[in-house]
Amino acid sequence: MARDPKVPTGKWSRESWRTKPIQQAPVYPDEVALTAVEKQLRGYPPLVFAGEARRLKANLAKIGAGKAFLLQGGDCAESFAEFHPDNIRDTFRVLLQMAVVLTFGGALPIVKVGRLAGQFAKPRSAGTEIIDGVELPSYRGDNVNGMEFTREARTPDPARMVQAYNQSAATLNLLRAFAQGGYADLHKVHQWTLGFVTDTPIAEKYRRFADRIQETLEFMEACGLTGETVPQLKETDFYTSHEALLLPYEEAMTRNDSTTGQWYACSAHMLWLGERTRQIDHAHVEFLRGVQNPLGVKIGPKTTVDELLALCDALNPQNEEGRLTVISRMGAERLAEHYPTLVRAIQREGRHIVWVCDPMHANTVKSSTGYKTRQFDRILAEVKAFFAVHRAEGTHPGGVHFELTGKDVTECTGGAQAITDATLGDRYHTHCDPRLNASQSLELAFLIAEALKDERSHQPVRVAASS
Ligand code: PEP
Ligand code: CO
Repeated sequence: MARDPKVPTGKWSRESWRTKPIQQAPVYPDEVALTAVEKQLRGYPPLVFAGEARRLKANLAKIGAGKAFLLQGGDCAESFAEFHPDNIRDTFRVLLQMAVVLTFGGALPIVKVGRLAGQFAKPRSAGTEIIDGVELPSYRGDNVNGMEFTREARTPDPARMVQAYNQSAATLNLLRAFAQGGYADLHKVHQWTLGFVTDTPIAEKYRRFADRIQETLEFMEACGLTGETVPQLKETDFYTSHEALLLPYEEAMTRNDSTTGQWYACSAHMLWLGERTRQIDHAHVEFLRGVQNPLGVKIGPKTTVDELLALCDALNPQNEEGRLTVISRMGAERLAEHYPTLVRAIQREGRHIVWVCDPMHANTVKSSTGYKTRQFDRILAEVKAFFAVHRAEGTHPGGVHFELTGKDVTECTGGAQAITDATLGDRYHTHCDPRLNASQSLELAFLIAEALKDERSHQPVRVAASS
């Protein structure tokens, strides 16, 4: 197919995005202060290393080949106010629990990527908000401005980027310790429930599941496979990701890797482009095309085949495996209508894509009690529709992307806990979109594990060639 002439091909630099039109960019009133912060951040240590981003890319390439599955999740927006080790631990723990459930169901390695340690910038549907006749800039995430509806809080403040950097660094430090320092040891599968909501049907289901894992580990140990001989049993790989929205911050965190001479965004292992900033000839695509990290791009139901192919040309011109993850967020019905056309076109063109489902962002509704919420059944329906399309097309459903928390919040309705419109107000704490709570997240993991198991049983049996 002919290449879209708008696909950027010019010389790239860390700052070449500055010459392009840009969406969703905050207007900083004090440019001198902004420049000073950018300079300060350029001198700070990178948060992640190029080699780690390359390892994640290699893992994503395995997913593309049908040999692994992605679990990506975390807050819609991290916040300065909720910065606490317990919150980080709880999100990490629920992702670990989900991953072990999915590993068992799918008999596949699960690549774990948090929406964590940098997920601070939010795209908004309007640039300003009006309350009682007063118009102020919209809240754009804690690394841009404050949520409080005052002119002072809503004015973009570059110093917030430094605070976001520091919080990301401390969060990553703890995540690395959890992943490598013993907390993620599979032998602790039971202990991960400590402090977890214990009186839900899912907690009981998880306890029974953990018993089976424990038994399996004891059996393996008897066969000589211990944490000493198989390090994967006592530690895990955990990666970070966020939406690459705030380009002054991303540019300042982008470094040249001395071993390859290539550029990497060192704010997170994986960065994604949001549905609202993926215009092919605009700033965000320009910036991301030049960094070598694995990239994600969100697509809604209006995405055309031409748009998607142009994004592949811009972001993955070498058609490298594991480079590009497409995260679809369409809603179950619209996914069934539009998604197969996209999957088919990509197959036909031989492009490498990791297909991931975000069943959250097209399922946001207003509850009868006035809360922005999402229904558990709608979320599940979208994941099922996603699996069904890949089954029909003979392609691999690569993973899932959730907004979730390890806390017992009441932000999404339904699930085994049967949260209703009336009880949403009990513990509604999100800084942006409604998140699945720990119990709902685990419940979904069990259901997706079933889908993965089913998927396995439908894979064509490979008959070994006789020699
Ligand atoms: C998000 O992931 O929080 C988000 C804003 O998503 P999207 O770009 O898909 O709307
Ligand atoms: Co969101």
